[in-house]
Formats: sequence, structure tokens, C-alpha cells
Amino acid sequence: MSFPDGFVWGVSTSAFQIEGATSADGRGPSIWDTFLADHAGACDHYHRYRDDVGLIRDLGVSAYRFSVSWARVLPDGEKVNPAGLDFYDRLVDELLGAGVAPYATLYHWDLPQALEDLGGWPSRDTAHRFADYAAAVHERLGDRVDTWFTLNEPWVAAFLGYGAGRHAPGRTSTADAFRSAHHLLLAHGLGARALRAAGAAKVGTVLNISPVMTPAQVGDPARPLAEEDAEAVARIDVLANRQFLEPLLRGAYPDELLPVVERACGDLGHVRDGDLGIINQPLDLLGVNYYTPLVVQAQPSEPADPAWPGSEGVLFCTVPTAVTAMGWPIVPDCLTRLLRRLSGEYPDLDLMVTENGADFVDVVTGDGIHDVDRVHFLEEHLRAVRSAIDAGARVRGYLVWTLLDNLEWADGYRRKFGLYHVDFATQRRRPKDSALWYRDVIRRGALPP
Ligand code: NOJ
Repeated sequence: MSFPDGFVWGVSTSAFQIEGATSADGRGPSIWDTFLADHAGACDHYHRYRDDVGLIRDLGVSAYRFSVSWARVLPDGEKVNPAGLDFYDRLVDELLGAGVAPYATLYHWDLPQALEDLGGWPSRDTAHRFADYAAAVHERLGDRVDTWFTLNEPWVAAFLGYGAGRHAPGRTSTADAFRSAHHLLLAHGLGARALRAAGAAKVGTVLNISPVMTPAQVGDPARPLAEEDAEAVARIDVLANRQFLEPLLRGAYPDELLPVVERACGDLGHVRDGDLGIINQPLDLLGVNYYTPLVVQAQPSEPADPAWPGSEGVLFCTVPTAVTAMGWPIVPDCLTRLLRRLSGEYPDLDLMVTENGADFVDVVTGDGIHDVDRVHFLEEHLRAVRSAIDAGARVRGYLVWTLLDNLEWADGYRRKFGLYHVDFATQRRRPKDSALWYRDVIRRGALPP
């Protein structure tokens, strides 16, 4: 079970989830500081980054994907704060010194509060601000960072943040959710153009692509569907996946989407002439975050879910498979299906699994943290990646979510996705068995037989 030469093994994090130090060196508040009244200091990575890079090096990974906090770089949304950039400067040098390639994500959900106050993502201007921010970060780090991801999971930022209100900034307007989705895509396009113009070597973006299926298809993908279920699956696939993939990679929204957006927004005025050309920039890499499939079936009486405007008549189902502590069904085969689908539809596109991992309840014992469920989860998903590669998918790497137990957004600290356990009272880090297992896999470049 070996992986191709040059396959990138890595690990991912995001700024707000680990850095802490929310007012150090001139950082301004982000929408997540406002949304979570009391979020303590996360992993205090801002002060402990040297030790944390040591943990990254110990894993033997070749890449580390982190995100830059926009509110450190532009605390008031406008003026560059050099002290904020200094942190990433030091982090990048430390990574390079450890032989680890830095992969920078520019937007992992932590919009400066100052820009939210000016309208946030429903406002078109935020996309232009993003391009300026991207240029400022590239100017400082571009001589050492080759791989750039513009956005992380724009669906979540738009629909959980502005539609369902479950994420920052906690707004609940379906019109604003669709406008945000478009402006995030526009931000990607403008940002990618700015990065490219400044000489960035590789530009990509990261989507949470969710395979969509009925409960019966979870175990039997070829299962034929009743017409109404096929329609429900197709509708959610448009909202979750094609709404982002097609503008990015084909320069057009799916025809089925536009009437839904028009109904929510009253008109399509926020989609201006030329926008789709800007969004459709050449991509060197598409990052795919995969955790679990979306399981749906037709249910005529079902109202639309607030996170899924346009989903009336669709029921989101639970399935009788094993789940993680988040309650997310564990279906590794869906990762194979997803990677094969993307390579089938976009044969020239390089893919990377930019996040995959699991929350389980960890038990700390005198002789370690024996997280067998997480090891099993990672092993099965890596087998799924390997099956996709065997079937011809262009998968260039795999990054585990995540390095450290951290701040899981609205769920706080109770979720444990880390390869390293963190005692939040002392900030002590300890490798779980999954960290040691991953290190061995990387060293061999292969899974155990
Ligand atoms: C995807 C997000 O990018 C990350 O921030 C989050 O912690 C994981 N999903 C787990 O929910």
C-alpha cells in the first residue's frame, strides 16, 4: 500500500483555532472574537510556534498548511500592521528550517470585525479588500511561500455564517448567504489574480466538497434512485458543490442555481458582468476537505433547512453506520468516489486532500493516549485515497486535520481532532498514538499491509 513518489504528506491548522494572543502586537478583533464572547487563548500557538514546529517536524511531514489571520495583518481592515506579518515571517522561517514546506491559506473564516462593520461578505467591497490583503501577505512571504490557498470552505463561511447564523457573524438572511457566496468566489478570483501578478508559484483554493447520496447509496453507490430522490440529491449537489466548482473551474454558475438565488435575493444584481471571468482563474491545485457525506432523501413536507436555502422537500438523514463524536457518519469509500468524480469531471486538475480527520473522545492514560478509533479512521481514509489514485485520480497529497486539539469554532474546546493532545490548563502537548502511527506511515511512504 505505498503512495507515489513526491506524494505530499502534511497536516493542517487554522489561525483562529490555535493562535490565541488575540490582541498581541496590534491584532484587531475578527468576527469570531465577537461571536464567541469567551474563547480563552486557544493553543497559544502565537507564543509557542517554535515548539509546535518541532512537533510538525517530528511527524516527518513535508507540508504544513496554516492560515494567516487577516485581523493581524490589517487590524482595521485598511492599514497594514507590520508586527502582525512578523509572526508569519518567523513561522515560515521556522518551518523552512525544519524542512517543512509552508502552505498558506488566506481566509479561514476570521474576517476583521472592521470589515464586517462595513457590510461583511454580503458587501462586494470585501472581495476587493481581500485582494489587497492577499497582495500584502504575498509581499512579505512570497519569497519563501510557494503554495497559496485563497479561501477555506466558502460554503461554510457564507451559509453557516450569514444564512443559518451558526457561525460568525451569526446573521440569518438567505439573500445575504447567497451574496456572500458570490463575493467569496469573487474574492478568490481577485486574490488569485493578485497573487499570480506578484509571482506566486502555486495558487489554489479549498472547498468542502460533500458527496451527496440517499441512505441506501451509502453502502451501495450504484443503487438506482426513485425520481424524487434523484431530484433531491441533484438539488443539494448544486447547493453544496456545483455552486462553487463550476464558477471556479468552468466560469459559469449551474443553470439550476440561478432561479434559487433570484428567489432568495429578489434579483441577480450582485452577479455583475465579468465576475465569472474573474472567478474562473487557472488553478494549480484544488484542495478538498472531506469528513463525511451528505445523506438526503425526498420528503415533500420538509421545510428548507436554514443552511440550505432552496432545500424544501429534502430531508437530511442519519444513517446506521459508525459515526465520530461529532455524529458524522464514517464512510471512507465516499472519499474515493469524490476524488474520482472530480478527476473525471476536471481531468487536468491537481487535487489535494487538504483536510481529513476525526473527533473522538480521547482518554489520557499513564502510558499515553491510545486513540485507536482515530488511527483506524485515518488508515481507512488513506486507503480510500490510494484507491482513488489507483483509479487514475490526480491526488497529489493528503493533509490531516489537525496538528493539535484546538478551538472547534462554535463547539468550543470539547471537540478533539488533534494528532497531539493539548492540556488547555497547562498548554502541554502530548502525541496521541495517531501521531506516532502517522509518523510511521510517512517514514515508510506506505500503509501497513
Ligand atoms: C473544516 C474546517 O476547515 C476546520 O476549521 C474545522 O475544524 C474542521 N472542518 C472540523 O470541523
